[in-house]
Amino acid sequence: MSRRPEFQAPPEIFYNEDEARKYTQNSRIINIQAEMTERCLELLLLPEDTPCLLLDIGCGSGLSGSVLEENGHMWIGMDISNAMLEVALERETEGDLVLSDMGEGVPFRAGCFDGAVSVSAIQWLFNADKKSHQPIKRLYKFFSTLYASLSRSARAVFQFYPQNETQLELLTSQAMKAGFYGGVVIDYPNSTKAKKFFLVLMTGGSAPLPQALGTDEESDLQVKYAKREASRNARGKPLKNTKAWLLEKKERRRKQGKDTKPDTKYTGRKRSGRF
Ligand SMILES: C[S@@+](CC[C@H](N)C(=O)[O-])C[C@H]1O[C@@H](n2cnc3c(N)ncnc32)[C@H](O)[C@@H]1O
Repeated sequence: MSRRPEFQAPPEIFYNEDEARKYTQNSRIINIQAEMTERCLELLLLPEDTPCLLLDIGCGSGLSGSVLEENGHMWIGMDISNAMLEVALERETEGDLVLSDMGEGVPFRAGCFDGAVSVSAIQWLFNADKKSHQPIKRLYKFFSTLYASLSRSARAVFQFYPQNETQLELLTSQAMKAGFYGGVVIDYPNSTKAKKFFLVLMTGGSAPLPQALGTDEESDLQVKYAKREASRNARGKPLKNTKAWLLEKKERRRKQGKDTKPDTKYTGRKRSGRF
């Protein structure tokens, strides 16, 4: 199978300023990343209504992190691309950001995270961009240090794009070698467009893998989807990008001692599009 064009450059080069901009300006990308992060959160099975500390691996411009915030969680993001992290800073996301290569390991204290998510990032570990890079070794280093950084019974969920069966097998075998239980959940396996891969890893012993979406009849799917939407609305969170949502976000930043612009009568107002 041929290499996808983006994998021909190392990630810290591919995700330059131009690419990073797409992650704030392209509404299709923004919506897809948000939807996949919501699904990762669902698969994490965190305790209801309890704010957790989560690690976002390959956090990029903070699109995935924003979803974690909206769901009431705190997060720390790690990413190899300076340009992507610059955009996350500009977007004033709430998470703390660390410039770091996941293939070198997860640089945090043992047991400090209640869970980890990663959206569209882990497939980059199959690259060998330097002479010293051996994908299998980097995968093992990553999974073993991630395992150590998670609290017991925590989970890590990765949405990713495998290029072939061998990559799927390598990911799961290195994760199991590092101590995790789990496997791959494939949502909408029969749809070329909607098919999504999630690696679900567990620290606290073996448990059944969550049910994939889109494996039943179409009508069943619609019911499930409607249920997910209903449960999101039932959480009573203000709708995204409304004034109430923005005020809540700013209040959380202030509580974290972060520099935050004061609220004014213009806060949350729609811009005209002209400068
Ligand atoms: C498609 S973007 C996704 C960003 C973010 N998770 C989101 O949902 O918007 C993939 C990210 O993975 C990061 N990445 C790739 N390889 C990495 C590595 N070895 N270590 C850390 N981050 C990496 C890239 O820099 C990029 O920001």
